[in-house]
Amino acid sequence: MAREFTSVGVVGLGTMGAGIVEVFARNGIDVVAVEISEAALERGRTTLTGSTDRAVAKGKLAEADRDALLSRVHFQVGLDALHSVDLVIEAVPEHLDLKQRIFAELDRVCKPEAILATNTSSLSVTEISVATTRPNQVIGIHFFNPAPVMKLVEVVRTVVTSADVVADVEALCERLGKVDVTISDRAGFIANALLFGYLNHAVSMFESRYATREDIDAAMKLGCGLPMGPLALMDLIGLDTAYEILDTMYRRGGRDRRHAPVPLIKQMVTAGLLGRKSGRGFYTYERPGSPVVVPDEQTPVASESALADGARGIAKVGVVGSGTMATGIIEVFAKAGYEVVSVTRGAEKSAKVFESVKTSLNKGVVRGKLSEADRDAALGRINWSATLEHLADVDLVVEAVVEELSVKKALFASLDEICKPGVVLATTTSSLPVIDVAMATQRPADVVGLHFFNPAPIMPLIEVVQTIRTSAETTTTAKAVCATLGKTGVVCGDRSGFIVNALLFPYLNDAVKMLEASYSTADDIDYAMKLGCGYPMGPFELLDVVGLDVSLAIQRELYLELREPGFAPAPLLEHLVTAGYLGRKSGRGFRDHTRR
Ligand SMILES: NC(=O)c1ccc[n+]([C@@H]2O[C@H](COP(=O)([O-])OP(=O)(O)OC[C@H]3O[C@@H](n4cnc5c(N)ncnc54)[C@H](O)[C@@H]3O)[C@@H](O)[C@H]2O)c1
Repeated sequence: MAREFTSVGVVGLGTMGAGIVEVFARNGIDVVAVEISEAALERGRTTLTGSTDRAVAKGKLAEADRDALLSRVHFQVGLDALHSVDLVIEAVPEHLDLKQRIFAELDRVCKPEAILATNTSSLSVTEISVATTRPNQVIGIHFFNPAPVMKLVEVVRTVVTSADVVADVEALCERLGKVDVTISDRAGFIANALLFGYLNHAVSMFESRYATREDIDAAMKLGCGLPMGPLALMDLIGLDTAYEILDTMYRRGGRDRRHAPVPLIKQMVTAGLLGRKSGRGFYTYERPGSPVVVPDEQTPVASESALADGARGIAKVGVVGSGTMATGIIEVFAKAGYEVVSVTRGAEKSAKVFESVKTSLNKGVVRGKLSEADRDAALGRINWSATLEHLADVDLVVEAVVEELSVKKALFASLDEICKPGVVLATTTSSLPVIDVAMATQRPADVVGLHFFNPAPIMPLIEVVQTIRTSAETTTTAKAVCATLGKTGVVCGDRSGFIVNALLFPYLNDAVKMLEASYSTADDIDYAMKLGCGYPMGPFELLDVVGLDVSLAIQRELYLELREPGFAPAPLLEHLVTAGYLGRKSGRGFRDHTRR
């Protein structure tokens, strides 16, 4: 018989604690909510009522249920109030000595059979447990932010946690409507071990002015479908908490440089810029605790006219290539009203591209998204050619030929001879340095990267890659073009992986390393990222879709260019590729797709 939990205690009512109180009270469990002072208690109470009032306003909670929920919570200062609860969850700041002190005190105050749990994100549950005389009843119950919303709970058992305590806590998670993954005590558990290297890397991109905060966040939201960008997420987590988690993970997790907190984080914490909770972090919020971002001095001017300011006029666009990307890009430009010159290597290829564009536009018609007249007009705007000379009078060329530097360089040298002055020359390369292509011309100031995502007609993001020779006018023009295509253009520097791939693939590679180390299973790791962090797919699902060979090639590029030891491709990824397990396309990758 599983243990009955009729009342629980929550220690610390900050970002996490207040949410955890809500989770229990919502599920009919009495909560003793404890803080260090009356003022902190009041803050916690305000957070809880704010959250439940919002749920009522959104129609997600009946007023009577809110009142019942709040009546189950008893607010108290000091740990003495916890003498008769069945379980305590500690959610105080991420400092080992503080947590050990609190656990020693809880051990004295709580009844002998009570389970003592920590919500730590990165500290050793084992080290916390030995501050008590009952380490077998100490366990990690790691909720995700915001606790009432996120489905995942990581249950962390140490080598001494007794099996019945683990089973009781697992049953409790189920009662709370949560999905649990049970794991052993390792720095960052599953989700944070995979998340924080990525977050820290995003902060370093911002710190080095590689891209703006808006562009970094938009890139990850629109390019990967994440619920929020990394800098907005840092603000939600709290920069002080994020700093402590990174610092602990760096020290506990083998001193991986990627977890050494970027200096800017410490500076922001010192300056009181803690994120949402203090009203300002990477972004500025309406007031402390509010999720509403308000404009500040870094907010870009977003109006259409400002976008077009300083941009060259573009009416006619050349697209070179006949593959998946070129085909999608031709459709995107033609649909947006541009006159398009498609250049392929022959009439046969042009016919194939024409058919693909027509089929895709027809799908739009069938779905009611495009009228027949608009389809015909779009097709009518495309001129088909097999010779580059036809690009003599275009205003913009988008190159989407094979990903080989020698081919692209030769093409750009030809474009340099053929195209009129003032043309913007863009490459869609996803892995080659744009500057190499630019230097094949006599006009590197006019060369820019336009990194579309696949499928181009659907994906809302384009990375605008500026080299050290790209002129401001060229970048402005490229951004303005993205806007006319109905897409978001994010501007970044000319480094391997640009924004999205540089942030995405090391995370995927880390997931493979975690699997390889047998810390958890592919299913649980996928669950953790989907249910704990709101990712649309888990890392192994995504790797199988992208292709393991493609992923390995990108990861190798990143490793070669940035020389970051932590970016070394996971041996398991290399082995799977060698074995021909490339993902969905070959029927097998991390999972077997032939049997589904
Ligand atoms: N922020 C996140 O996204 C997140 C997610 C999962 C887990 N966690 C973990 O949850 C824990 C709490 O983090 P947080 O972000 O909620 O921190 P926070 O700073 O927002 O809140 C901590 C609260 O603890 C209170 N406190 C401090 N000392 C206390 C004491 N002696 N007795 C009672 N209360 C005390 C503080 O007054 C504060 O309200 C940390 O271990 C953190 O790693 C955080």
